[in-house]
Amino acid sequence: LNPPQKALSGQDKNSFGYATLQSRLPVIVSKTVDDVYRTYHALTDSDPLKKEKEQEAKKIIELIGGLRYELQRDKPFRPFTDTREDVDEWNKALAEYYPTSSWYKASWLFSECYLYRRIKEAFALTQHWKDYDPFFEQKQTVFKSSQKAVVSIAVQLTTPVDVKTGKSVLDIKVQDGPESKATRDAFFEMVQVSLWGNATDLSLLDNPDLAKVEELQRRMMSSSSSNSSSAASSANASPAVSTVHLDQVVQGTSEQHASELEKHAEKILSNDSELLWSKVKSLRNGRVDIILDNAGFELYVDLVFADYLVRAGFASEVVFHAKRIPWFVSDVMPFDFQWTLDQLHSPTTSTTATSDTPTYFFSPADPIEQQALQDLGKKWQTYINNGTWKLTSHEFWTSCYAFYHLPTHPSAQDLFQDMQQSDLWIFKGDLNYRKLVYDCKWPTTTPFSKAIGPLGQGDEKAEGVPMAVSFRTCKADVVVGLNDGVEEKMDKVAPNWMVSGEYAVISVSP
Ligand code: F6P
Ligand code: MG
Repeated sequence: LNPPQKALSGQDKNSFGYATLQSRLPVIVSKTVDDVYRTYHALTDSDPLKKEKEQEAKKIIELIGGLRYELQRDKPFRPFTDTREDVDEWNKALAEYYPTSSWYKASWLFSECYLYRRIKEAFALTQHWKDYDPFFEQKQTVFKSSQKAVVSIAVQLTTPVDVKTGKSVLDIKVQDGPESKATRDAFFEMVQVSLWGNATDLSLLDNPDLAKVEELQRRMMSSSSSNSSSAASSANASPAVSTVHLDQVVQGTSEQHASELEKHAEKILSNDSELLWSKVKSLRNGRVDIILDNAGFELYVDLVFADYLVRAGFASEVVFHAKRIPWFVSDVMPFDFQWTLDQLHSPTTSTTATSDTPTYFFSPADPIEQQALQDLGKKWQTYINNGTWKLTSHEFWTSCYAFYHLPTHPSAQDLFQDMQQSDLWIFKGDLNYRKLVYDCKWPTTTPFSKAIGPLGQGDEKAEGVPMAVSFRTCKADVVVGLNDGVEEKMDKVAPNWMVSGEYAVISVSP
């Protein structure tokens, strides 16, 4: 916990860190309490453990209420009292680095991680709520509201034949080869979709306004999702599949679509995706690790990207890294991962005596769309079952440590050694980026490879050194890798550019 530069901190009143401690986190904490309150009030008398669960819920609410009080009054941090396996590590860090510190005095990164670990403590101290995720309901609701964009993508990925060229979209690797224009174009499309999927992070939406989420996805998917409900039917009506986003890329990009992509690309203030492509296209049956960020729509598009890597023959193994505890509201936990696959292909109710139609989580009117979701879900489940996709989680990702410590931190050695078997590490989202660059006040022109410290110091010519890439929409007061003059220009055109989530970076360290 010795940042290489001045760390971002809540002491700077003009910072997003300060605004987060002052306004965002108290709201997140209150909503956690509301969730527990609602859940225990919904317990029924048929539950034999109702009384015990209620008592424990009241205790949780008391503890989290206390946490809000400490945060709002900037009380000193206190050690953890539960028995999770990471507790000694946290308490050691507190004693060593922050013995007398508090929310606004410590680094913003530490304070914020400490908050989510404290929320976990309240649940970990109980018997019946140990594994409860107070953010699950929000993740679920917002994913449901993403139906349009989810269905649109599923239809495009499972349409077996491009009616114009007669080629199978799924077979691009066989038909065109990994270095074809189609495969290349699809790559840049996938990168953008995976990148902008990060814009719909729940912790930024105080009051998840579902219309707002849909609008974000519509903007992100540009022309495709606004027309998504007609994706399948338009394919039926016109053999040219005129409105479909990913298909267009495989078929040859339309003008409208190209300009939408350009508009998005302009918002990527530092874009190393060509460098990334040069790595990806050299891979044959490689291993790619994705350090996940958020559940819901972002996870879905990450899976779409992973599917592409496998389908194109670049990767025969994709390892997904999830969080073990509820983290920054929307982050993927192992449960969310499996739940997401299940919602695509398993009915939520099976047939009954009165109805012979099962119901599903997503309910598009068109049976072709429902079928597309199921096909995709089943295919992805097969990837998990046959080991092509692996899901893992490690305590390091929810520790207080920045990724500078990944190569040397004693309890991360198993993780680091395993990750070195990989060809490419893809870090998703804002927090992973903050942890990569140690959440410091770097000059914005600092090269990314320098800002990520030890992870950027490998010999790029050495055999077998994995490449690291971050796909991140900007939501914190740190950005690196910009050219001279970009910061000054952005300050003029969009004063909030660093934190609004409207701008992004794709940064590679070879
Ligand atoms: O609250 C801190 C923060 O890192 C924000 O900067 C960001 O909005 C959010 O948490 C998490 O973002 P992401 O899900 O992209 O990591
Ligand atoms: Mg997140």
